[in-house]
Amino acid sequence: MADLNSILSVTPRPYLPPARAHPFVKWAGGKRALIPEIAARLPDALGTYWEPFTGGGAVFFALDGLTTAARLSDINSELIITYAVVRNHPERLIDALRVHEGQHKRSGYYVSVRKQRDAQDAVEVAARFIYLNKTCFNGLYRVNKSGQFNVPKGRYKNPKICDADNIQNASEVLRKARLRYGGFDEIDPNGGDFVYCDPPYDGASVAYAPHGFDDDDQQALRDAAARWARQGVNVMLSNADTPLIRSLYRRAPFTLHEVQAPRSISCDGNGRGKVGELIITTYG
Ligand SMILES: C[S@@+](CC[C@H](N)C(=O)[O-])C[C@H]1O[C@@H](n2cnc3c(N)ncnc32)[C@H](O)[C@@H]1O
Repeated sequence: MADLNSILSVTPRPYLPPARAHPFVKWAGGKRALIPEIAARLPDALGTYWEPFTGGGAVFFALDGLTTAARLSDINSELIITYAVVRNHPERLIDALRVHEGQHKRSGYYVSVRKQRDAQDAVEVAARFIYLNKTCFNGLYRVNKSGQFNVPKGRYKNPKICDADNIQNASEVLRKARLRYGGFDEIDPNGGDFVYCDPPYDGASVAYAPHGFDDDDQQALRDAAARWARQGVNVMLSNADTPLIRSLYRRAPFTLHEVQAPRSISCDGNGRGKVGELIITTYG
């Protein structure tokens, strides 16, 4: 009997059905490695899934089998256009990426594409975005003060520029998602929904957006998360384990969970290996 009770008392890790797709861009601070820690701390019911710092969408794609409706947003307009094109025009995007793939080895091609600023057609914008992301140094999205992508070419021998199967699968998964360009403070989740926030980490130097994300932004996010929690929304956040983040989230409704995450592209663009992070929840 003692054995039976010890088996019954073990809380099972939630079963994550196999994902149909994975991120179609590499993203600094991408959360693929943290998925098991995130999955282990989900609320009992997800309602509509909100991700206001979508980036590469690693968590959105990983939770595909658990969600039926999603709201994805980000302050990077080209990224959100790219999501819309993946969802709405996967075939046209694949054709455009095959053109980039065919030209990539031509001398000066990368720089000529990086210089283009006048693409009008959304499919062209998305193909350029994915092409630069797959071929740039370290897959690191970084912009200068005028918001222009300024990363040098990477040293890949044969970068996979067009992963047609994954784009088709991502397109299917994205049918459940409404997409929005905008800041985290513009979302309006309802009671019973689940919001996962993965902001630029405290102390990270990656310039995802020209204006960055400073201490006031971290505080505004904490205030927004507390407000959503008061409305009955279940909120999870991830961030670096730093004194600022510990102090912002030290009181109810927040609970801090310490986790160790391996990183491939780190938030500060150079550190690799395991780092201490915090997952913060407003429930359970
Ligand atoms: C750490 S990354 C998210 C990575 C994502 N979880 C993944 O797995 O790829 C942070 C994202 O926040 C976005 N961002 C920065 N400031 C923002 C703001 N004020 N509102 C909404 N999104 C913002 C950036 O464009 C970037 O995509």
